[in-house]
This record gives sequence, structure tokens and C-alpha cells, in this order.
Amino acid sequence: MEKNCAPLRIGFIGAGRLACTLARAWANAGEIVVGASSRRAESVAALVARCPDARPFNTAAELVDQCDLVFVTVTDTAIEEVSNAIAWHEGQFVVHCSAACEIDLLHHAKQCGAEIGGFHPLQIFSDPEVAFLHLAGSSVAIEALGLLQLQLFRLASAIGMTPLTLRAGARLSYHLAGNFAASGLLALLLEAEELWEDCGFERRTALLALLPLSFGTLNSAAQLGLAKAVSGPVSRGDSEMLKRHLALAASRETGDQLYRELLVRLIQLANSSLRLTPDQVTELRAALNGAARRIIP
Ligand SMILES: NC(=O)c1ccc[n+]([C@@H]2O[C@H](COP(=O)([O-])OP(=O)(O)OC[C@H]3O[C@@H](n4cnc5c(N)ncnc54)[C@H](OP(=O)(O)O)[C@@H]3O)[C@@H](O)[C@H]2O)c1
Repeated sequence: MEKNCAPLRIGFIGAGRLACTLARAWANAGEIVVGASSRRAESVAALVARCPDARPFNTAAELVDQCDLVFVTVTDTAIEEVSNAIAWHEGQFVVHCSAACEIDLLHHAKQCGAEIGGFHPLQIFSDPEVAFLHLAGSSVAIEALGLLQLQLFRLASAIGMTPLTLRAGARLSYHLAGNFAASGLLALLLEAEELWEDCGFERRTALLALLPLSFGTLNSAAQLGLAKAVSGPVSRGDSEMLKRHLALAASRETGDQLYRELLVRLIQLANSSLRLTPDQVTELRAALNGAARRIIP
């Protein structure tokens, strides 16, 4: 290990789902997890119970005093206030784990001489036990410079995560990308659920029946890339079926605009897969542009 990357004493302010998971993973990997502070003693106890050598701290100030690297893992809206209340000092590293918030929320720590950064795991932490199993193999977006960057890369690798450099100023685009990839899928499934009900099926059976299609598509995308994973009428250049789908979408209360926007992107993907002839692509685009739109009363 490089001299600069000597092990750090790690602490967490805010002992929630993410902190419990990361603390446990680093403790398991032999890193020095000093402990945590939080609003409630029960939360701190839950974190400490997962890390053999960690201990609870009554206040953030006491914790910070014992640490080289502090993760401010409180809810996003509390990060700035929590950081502002601490007398940080030079030589310390202070990091938050939010996707959306700028690193600058930790401006007070920077003013005090600490180095600040971001460490955002691309994983869902709703259940720390499940998240713990999925950490290895997940990516983490790191926004930091110099020694802090080296250390965060090292810590990510120590628990099997893939570190990525997130450049300054890209955080909002990064967050939106994540939103499309995560909850964006749910908006599409909501539309599919409603159509499912229109078929006369019970709505509660929709996800059971439709999700294998989603998983199959996502698996294909993981293996082949987006363009080759496209299926359905667009992938076959079937502009007649596209017109029928568009007419149905225009007759419904929702989904017309959504379907049109999706088709623009799907045709772009099918075109880039080189499976369709230029004429087929032109016909698909003509079907899309020529179809009647839903009239909003
Ligand atoms: N959950 C995810 O899937 C996920 C994924 C990636 C990144 N993140 C990021 O990770 C960070 C933590 O999220 P989380 O999901 O772990 O949240 P969480 O489970 O709600 O935990 C937040 C913790 O912070 C504590 N806290 C809140 N306000 C505080 C304050 N003013 N002073 C001290 N402690 C305070 C809470 O206190 P008590 O429990 O002590 O009351 C709780 O333990 C956030 O920045 C979030 O954006 C979350």
C-alpha cells in the first residue's frame, strides 16, 4: 500500500441504513471503523452491533475528534446543518453520500481546513442486510481530489465496489441518469399495469406476469448493450403495428406522449443496431410523425 494511503480511522455521523451497511462492510474488510453518532442511541447501537471494534459516541464532536475520515450520512436535508455545527480541522476528510447534493454543502468543513468529497454508492439501501450482500459488484461515484480521492478509491475497492470518478459540476446529470435507470422504469410499468387491466386481467397479477419481460430485457441489455436488446415492432421495422399501437395510445387518457417519446429513442436504438434497413427506419419515423395525437378536451 502507498504510504499516503495508510488506513484511516473512519466514523459516521448519522447511523441510518447506508451508514450501517458501509460500516459493516469496512469493518469486515479490516478497516478501522471507530464508531458513530446519531440523533437516537438505538440507531448508533444498531451500527455498532455490526462492527466488532466500533463504539457509540454521544455527540458528533466527540466522534469527529477520534477520526481521520468522517462520513456525514444523515438525511440530505440535514447534511449542511450537521457539518456547520462541527469544529473540523486541517488533515481531516469529510464526505457525504448523497447523489443529488453538491459537495459544497460541506463548505464549513472546507473552511476549517478539512478536505471534502462525495461517495455515492449506486445501490439501494432500503434494507441494510440486503444492501450488504449487493455492495460488492456495485459502482460508487466518487467526487474528491488528491489524497482523499485515493483513499475513497481504496476504500471502495476494499469492499469489492467499482470506484468511478464523478467530475465536479456533473452531479445533477448524474442524479437524473440514476433516476431514469431506477424509478423511471416504474413509470413505464405503471403504464403497462393500466393496459394490463384494460385487457380484463386483474391488476394485482400484472407485475407477476410482466416483470419477467422486464428482467429478460434488462439481462439482454447487460449482455448485448441497449441497441441489441430492443424487441417488439420497432426491432422488426413493423411500421403497421406501430401505427396501431400509436392509435391505441392516442385513445387512452395517459401514455400517448410517453409512448411517442419512447419511440423516438427506440427507433434511434434500433437504427444504431444496424438490424433495420434505412427504408425501414424512415417508415418507422413516418408512422410516428404521421400518427394522430390524443386530443386533450
Ligand atoms: N437509502 C439509499 O438507498 C441511499 C443510496 C445512496 C445514497 N444514499 C444517501 O445516504 C445518506 C443517508 O441516507 P440513508 O438512506 O442511510 O438515510 P436514513 O436511513 O434515513 O438515515 C439517516 C440517519 O441520519 C440520522 N440523522 C438525521 N438527521 C440527523 C441530525 N440532524 N443529526 C444527527 N443524525 C441525524 C438519522 O437519525 P436517527 O436514526 O438517529 O434518528 C438516521 O440514522 C443520504 O445522503 C442519502 O442520500 C442513500
